Amino acid sequence: MAAFEPIVVAFACHYCAYTAADMAGTMRLEYPANVNIIKVPCTGKVDTIHIMRALQKGADGVLVAGCLVGDCHFKNGNVQANNRVTYVQELLKDIGIESERVEMVHMSAGQGRQFAEIATEFTEKIRQLGPNPIKEGSKKAAA
Ligand code: FES
Repeated sequence: MAAFEPIVVAFACHYCAYTAADMAGTMRLEYPANVNIIKVPCTGKVDTIHIMRALQKGADGVLVAGCLVGDCHFKNGNVQANNRVTYVQELLKDIGIESERVEMVHMSAGQGRQFAEIATEFTEKIRQLGPNPIKEGSKKAAA
């Protein structure tokens, strides 16, 4: 049987994490190809349904990466995103799924190295957790 390769979705803010990911590439820093970046104008645009739909459609883990607290270009979108991530984590706990599958991180545009490290650590954590049991096609989702 092939080794489990997690699918990670990262909702990355245009102003910080997306640019940091770009910088990681420019610096030739490696991070797992498992990380699928979705650029958003602000993490405040990431709603709970987007995170849950990502998990339903195949993600094993979801990272929401926004600006540093106090640096959101839309005032408090990152704080709203943080609250939504906490809400989703509670939902996952309620249905018996590891809440660690969803995480919010904050960074600046210049933190390419941090982006690569966070992406690598998160992917490894999801690899340890194993496949997301609620994604479509899994046995638990079918039950
Ligand atoms: Fe980056 Fe809002 S603009 S999180």
